[in-house]
Amino acid sequence: MSLRLGDIAPDFTAETTQGTIHFHEWLGNSWGLLFSHPADFTPVCTTELGKTALLKGEFEKRNVKVIAVSVDDLDSHNRWVPDIQEVNGVEVNFPIIADGDRTVATLYDMIHPNASEKATVRSVFVIGPDKKIKLTLTYPASTGRNFQEILRVIDSLQLTANYQVATPADWKDGDDTIVVPAVSTEDAINKFPKGVNVVKPYLRYTPQPNK
Ligand code: BEZ
Repeated sequence: MSLRLGDIAPDFTAETTQGTIHFHEWLGNSWGLLFSHPADFTPVCTTELGKTALLKGEFEKRNVKVIAVSVDDLDSHNRWVPDIQEVNGVEVNFPIIADGDRTVATLYDMIHPNASEKATVRSVFVIGPDKKIKLTLTYPASTGRNFQEILRVIDSLQLTANYQVATPADWKDGDDTIVVPAVSTEDAINKFPKGVNVVKPYLRYTPQPNK
């Protein structure tokens, strides 16, 4: 069965381009982004891993450790990394798991046989410091991911983990947020001193509380 939000992200030990990693231990108290790509030496994947490396500072700011995976072996990853670096003008600064025996792909249900028997789809898992899965996304091989969207969701996840707010459609960091239904409007007025705008009894906006 596939993994669901709130499940514990399965632990594993894997060989990576940065040595052997015990996943939970490696995550420590950080957030995690585990994402699969179909294969090394493919064009879309080359842009995705480069984009991820270019966003290093953005992930660090959010205390997110990034790790990629495909079913290619370590030798293949190590031969491909210089291409990613050359094409994108950046150092690949995160580990890539060599999952030749499909341990990680199986644990995280990353092979969808009706799409491809052999390769992982483009799965995304955001994992909280409690090791629970906070976000899953699945893209086909033909569509490169939008890493700005992944950062945007992480911003929302980190905000809503700490405040009784949710984020509306197309929200981005700095925009107004929504008071969660569990908080009454009376309580919201006390909790959110920047103000509460009641559009409907169930739709109450408040400025982003941590800004
Ligand atoms: C790519 O990364 O470019 C790719 C990989 C598998 C199928 C199609 C495209």
